[in-house]
Amino acid sequence: MRYNRFLSADTQFMKASEIRELLKLVEQRNVISFAGGLPDPKLFPVDELSEIAKEVIKEMGSKALQYAPTKGVTLYRKELADFLYRNRGIRADPEDIVVTVGSQQAIDIISRTLIDPGDVVIVEEPTYLAALNAFRVRRPRFVGVPVDDNGMKVEVLEEKLKKLREEGAKIKLLYTIPIAQNPAGVTMSPDRKKRLVELAEEYDFLIVEDDVYGLLVFDPNIDTTPLTLLDKSGRVIYVGSFSKMLSPGMRLGHIVGPRELIDVFERAKQSIDLHTPSLTQYITAEALRRGVIERNLPRIREHYKAKRDAMIRVMEEKFPKSVWFTRPAGGMFLWVKLNANVDTSELLQRAIEKGVAYVPGKSFFHDYSGKDTMRLNFSYPTVEQIEKGIAILAELIREALGSS
Ligand SMILES: Cc1ncc(COP(=O)(O)O)c(C=O)c1O
Repeated sequence: MRYNRFLSADTQFMKASEIRELLKLVEQRNVISFAGGLPDPKLFPVDELSEIAKEVIKEMGSKALQYAPTKGVTLYRKELADFLYRNRGIRADPEDIVVTVGSQQAIDIISRTLIDPGDVVIVEEPTYLAALNAFRVRRPRFVGVPVDDNGMKVEVLEEKLKKLREEGAKIKLLYTIPIAQNPAGVTMSPDRKKRLVELAEEYDFLIVEDDVYGLLVFDPNIDTTPLTLLDKSGRVIYVGSFSKMLSPGMRLGHIVGPRELIDVFERAKQSIDLHTPSLTQYITAEALRRGVIERNLPRIREHYKAKRDAMIRVMEEKFPKSVWFTRPAGGMFLWVKLNANVDTSELLQRAIEKGVAYVPGKSFFHDYSGKDTMRLNFSYPTVEQIEKGIAILAELIREALGSS
């Protein structure tokens, strides 16, 4: 039986994630993987969470195991609003928050409710690939803006906006990860953030700010002000998550935005899954109340900093000087550009044979360009694996550049 004739037209825009396919391959072999995007499970506050989970089920089971409002458990939204104020300076009324199943669902809901086919969606080059995939289903017209060490090149954005205006194109939204970006690891400078918000005003578009790494910055003197604090007119839709600070398995993300949009997001969510699981919201509300996340954050930062330092140290020592790589101030990823006519997707097979894996950069570009780039994850592998794996990768790159 062939099912193609039964599939909706949208399914042809649903791309399988290249990373997932790849990880299957890596799992089967003894390979040092820089390919994933997993937090280090050593950092999960297992003891505190198991105690809280037991108490929540025993003492609040009648609510925590029950259906909940679509927007999210009220108690959790209150704790979350307080957390966002204490740690990100964001003053949100709990009614202006929708709790989502990870921030991935937040992006998907935003995509479904705001993007019509042909609308201009502006993204960073490179950007988070699962956001691209969520947008792709809506068939937008992507416009890419490159990043450098200071995040999105806002001056290039401005040129592109001018051209789009001349064409009469409808610019719907711009998606950005301003802090410790995935995949490039770069952070937007304060000047650029300010200008970006001004441009949204001038050219009348919305900004989706993905702040999942906002609290995972480990270098001092880095401005981590969220864009939403610079926004005077309600153009920034803020997306956050506890996946990288607590546990991705809890699947807790959130959208903070203007009430009118939040109501639309809530309606969309109603038909997707009724609500985010009540149990993880109750557990996390209690974890927030007890300060578990805030206590754990310095440990996470310190741990990831050591891993980032190890990765950069070996790269500086062993990578050819012509290769460009970023020096992330936070987050979990580092970006490499070979600056050569080498396709990193083709190189990957050889890398896996040698015992190391990465994600080829192409899938982080809306147009699949960037073939000489790769993303490396430093949060999951151990320092020893990083040192060994980067040395192998350096050798592989030298070989590839030699023959390019
Ligand atoms: C930039 C970015 N946004 C969103 C997500 C989705 O994470 P979650 O759905 O676990 O919150 C990720 C996960 O890697 C990410 O890197």
